[in-house]
Amino acid sequence: MKVLVTYFTQTGNTEKVARAVFDAIDVEKEILPVGEVRTVQGYDIIFIGFPVIAHAVPVKVQPFIKSLPAGQKVAFFSTHGSLRGGQLPKQAFEDAIGLAAGKKVLGYFGCRGKVSPKIIDAMMKQPENRAWAEEAQTADGHPDAADLKDARGFADAMIAKAR
Ligand SMILES: Cc1cc2nc3c(=O)[nH]c(=O)nc-3n(C[C@H](O)[C@H](O)[C@H](O)COP(=O)(O)O)c2cc1C
Repeated sequence: MKVLVTYFTQTGNTEKVARAVFDAIDVEKEILPVGEVRTVQGYDIIFIGFPVIAHAVPVKVQPFIKSLPAGQKVAFFSTHGSLRGGQLPKQAFEDAIGLAAGKKVLGYFGCRGKVSPKIIDAMMKQPENRAWAEEAQTADGHPDAADLKDARGFADAMIAKAR
């Protein structure tokens, strides 16, 4: 079995989760930023990680998901400022699953990631985004050790499912 872990990151949070996923995998494996993937041939499962941007998959990741061959097994992971388990981060996975039409989505995992102060400040100034900004502020310190442990558990579960 051969596994690719690929990710997009702007401030490093998603890369931390990607490395935890990668570390948990004990078969042939590679890890690459999404912009550096030259071929997707020959992977039994591709893990794709992204930060949630505007409740959706970042524009830079969307073409990669769409370009995968039909039937490709994929597993998604994300980091996000919102609380875990809420509707908003789920919306981004629904977006990812929609983009992956025709592929085989094995599962997904999300955890919180510290939001850059610049984004928090900008959102605080917009009345419609203030509540989100207040929630997102509490993502400081994430992903933490517990998040990374959960990410490793997710990786194990996805590999077991792909066998
Ligand atoms: C432009 C922008 C938009 C964002 N939109 C959302 C959002 O809609 N929901 C959310 O939970 N987090 C949002 N975030 C927070 C990021 O998803 C979060 O901080 C993530 O962990 C960043 O990951 P990275 O360090 O890998 O880039 C946004 C961040 C940026 C920069």
